[in-house]
Amino acid sequence: MWFNDVIKGAGLGLRTAFIEQVFDNPIKPDWFEIAPENWIKKRGYFRKLFEKIRENFPVACHGLSLSIGSPEPVNKKFLKDLKDFLDYYEIKIYSEHLSFSYLDGKNLFELFPLPFTKEMAYFISDKINQVQDFLNRTLIIENISYYYVPYMEISETEFIKTILKKTGAKLLLDVNNVYVNSVNHGYDPYKYICSFSSDDVAYIHIAGHHKIDDNLIIDTHGNEITNEVYKLLDFTLDKIGYKPVLLERDNNIPPYNKLLDEYMKLKSRVEKYERV
Ligand SMILES: [Fe+2]
Repeated sequence: MWFNDVIKGAGLGLRTAFIEQVFDNPIKPDWFEIAPENWIKKRGYFRKLFEKIRENFPVACHGLSLSIGSPEPVNKKFLKDLKDFLDYYEIKIYSEHLSFSYLDGKNLFELFPLPFTKEMAYFISDKINQVQDFLNRTLIIENISYYYVPYMEISETEFIKTILKKTGAKLLLDVNNVYVNSVNHGYDPYKYICSFSSDDVAYIHIAGHHKIDDNLIIDTHGNEITNEVYKLLDFTLDKIGYKPVLLERDNNIPPYNKLLDEYMKLKSRVEKYERV
């Protein structure tokens, strides 16, 4: 898959908290993922640092505000700004969440789950096709973590596969989200993973979570990755074959060297599959 010519191995979510330390540290992540919304309007010192990152590393964009599941039409002004940014920095990879975060013109500042229905899959597919045509890029959509499902006519995996088939979009498979949802909603995460082929998946996310009790996990991206999630990652890479994997750490961010310890743990795992 062409994605693997752009990003390879293990990546790290870029945060302003440690961007200044990236260049002097002898450990260099294979690639970075950024939220374009955080950088499109940034100027001055941090913009220069981002440009240095782009000059030295492969970069993938992972958006926050496309809100592909909103009833509203796609926001063309946002898409134009996004396309200008992606084109200017020659960033080919753009992913987003299978969710909605805008309703009635208001930003809800949260990723909300969608009803898993055929009608919603067709509705979203039309919007994804518009986005892909506008951006001239394949959209990569991520399975989100959620704490309720508004309505379930078909399974989540059938919902996603319907969208992939109708659009040619690819999946950003978040194995932590699969694990968190499997505990909170009582399904088999391994069966979920087996629903997808290597061709369906562009890359993988992994992150830490916070366990409240045996039946409730909160998806915080604020802790180290658990053994259960690593086990699911190993299974995923065994089952669908090698894919690039991104470490997400958005809260409770440790000192950069400590974050790199976790990054190296992930990298050594991913490299085993990269060599196969
Ligand atoms: Fe994710």
